[in-house]
Amino acid sequence: MVCRKSAIAAITLLFAVLVQAAPLPESDGLVHEGVASCASSICHGRVEPDVSATVWLNEYRIWLREDKHSGAYKLLLNEQSQSIATKLGIPKAHEAPECLACHTDYVPVAMQGKKFRVEDGVGCEACHGGSENWLKTHTEKAATHEYNIAQGLYPSDVLPERSELCLSCHLGTESKFASHEIMGAGHPRLSFDLQAFGVNQPYHYEIDEDYRNRKATYDDVQTWLSGLATQSRLTLDLMAGPVFQGSALMPELALYECHTCHRPMNGNHWRTDPKYAASLPSGSVRLNDGALQVLIVAMEVIKPSSATAILDGINELHSASLQSKSDVQKQASMLTTVIRGLELELANKIYAPEDIVLLRKHLLRAASEGEFSYYNAAEQSFFGIETLSIARGDSELAEKELDHWYATMVDENRFDSTVFAQVAGTVLGVFQ
Ligand code: HEC
Ligand code: HEC
Ligand code: HEC
Ligand code: HEC
Repeated sequence: MVCRKSAIAAITLLFAVLVQAAPLPESDGLVHEGVASCASSICHGRVEPDVSATVWLNEYRIWLREDKHSGAYKLLLNEQSQSIATKLGIPKAHEAPECLACHTDYVPVAMQGKKFRVEDGVGCEACHGGSENWLKTHTEKAATHEYNIAQGLYPSDVLPERSELCLSCHLGTESKFASHEIMGAGHPRLSFDLQAFGVNQPYHYEIDEDYRNRKATYDDVQTWLSGLATQSRLTLDLMAGPVFQGSALMPELALYECHTCHRPMNGNHWRTDPKYAASLPSGSVRLNDGALQVLIVAMEVIKPSSATAILDGINELHSASLQSKSDVQKQASMLTTVIRGLELELANKIYAPEDIVLLRKHLLRAASEGEFSYYNAAEQSFFGIETLSIARGDSELAEKELDHWYATMVDENRFDSTVFAQVAGTVLGVFQ
């Protein structure tokens, strides 16, 4: 399922801040004091935002009432979760590490402070890091953002760190993963786009002047593109690591494009994809390269030499996928090195209005010519086009067409790539 964005974020200026790669909150080795430590009415638990303060101070209320993360544990008690657990032979979803890992702030018992409650689901410290060393000091005037980070606050303002944080649950890692077995038992397929999901998570902060003075900020297009590169790299990392190994014969199927296997048998979908024909003959099971395909098309505009390098790398990866698991792992690992450098480059590049228009046209043309014929790539391309239109400020010009395009892909079980391409053509027609 994809969600449409609800808000229009203003373009913000960029202040690049260099921070050393931080450990994810789940493994920061700090005591997580618990949501209740942040939630008092004189701290982050006010009813209304305090516009005179540096931060709103009603973050807890927003999280509790509007943000799905606060209900992530409770979800494990519902019927769908119980049914998943039963099929997997797990007695209780809400006690199973396989589920708690992404549905709570999953830190070892020794790292759970006095007020820590597993029931709080994905609480503040699951994203902001264990507050052991900064809870008391972060409100002091002298406590700069850099100081707080040195005390263990997670740099969630910085790219690619923010992507790595979100994707640790929205894609998975070596230590927590929604496998094909879990999905087969009824877990939804995971999809992600940093900018689209960032907008869909109810804002509990405002990027105003004082925020810009303290923290790194990025505009929508920077966030989208850098996020896409990080998502591509982390997907490849999983293919390069032990998760991919799967059982003796089959690799981990959740790292493949689900819809190469799961689709109706009528409708004549049998085809080759011209850009990848050399490495993926019809009938091959395709590794999930949805984010990578969209990244390539964007790089064709931004930096053609990178587009070629990534396309070559993916073709090698697909060829390797017809050979052996170890060939896939070698190739995936090589390709991550090509992409790693792009994450910062894309986050720091300035995209002028005419660049945005060009990027959108090129992506829409690719979509209308049938390049994103598999669902994952189609969905990923939709997120990008929507971001570009919001950033350009003219999405209302094609509101009807964008809604229609969205409708062609809202249900992955009925996705028809021909219709998706046709409607992409009508959107392109409006924005030409
Ligand atoms: C790799 C992290 C990860 C693991 C492991 C994981 N989940 Fe999830 N789960 C998610 C994310 C992220 C979502 C939200 C997906 C979205 O909306 O894009 C989700 C969504 C769900 C939903 C659907 C919610 C809805 O609104 O439809 C259920 C039910 C669920 N998970 C149950 C479980 C159970 C039970 C387990 C253990 C067997 C589990 N999850 C393991 C990350 C994970
Ligand atoms: C799913 C991840 C996530 C959760 C859960 C979360 N936050 Fe945030 N929070 C963010 C992101 C992303 C930002 C924006 C980047 C930044 O400023 O670090 C942010 C920003 C903030 C800010 C910064 C405002 C500023 O002007 O500097 C505060 C304060 C904050 N969050 C408090 C909380 C509190 C309190 C909770 C729990 C009730 C919470 N957050 C839960 C992700 C999260
Ligand atoms: C510790 C794991 C974890 C982290 C970290 C995390 N999420 Fe989530 N997220 C979840 C789970 C689990 C759900 C499903 C909750 C539900 O459906 O009730 C979810 C749901 C969401 C949803 C709602 C999706 C929907 O279908 O409505 C959005 C949007 C979202 N997350 C964005 C983000 C962003 C942006 C970040 C990074 C700043 C982030 N998440 C970090 C676990 C996580
Ligand atoms: C290589 C082919 C292949 C790929 C790729 C694949 N699956 Fe499956 N999937 C299967 C097979 C085989 C079954 C078992 C069907 C059965 O038992 O009758 C299955 C079962 C399922 C089921 C249980 C429902 C059913 O039809 O039995 C779900 C849900 C599911 N897969 C989701 C996914 C998702 C989500 C992805 C991508 C992340 C994915 N699959 C990728 C082959 C695949």
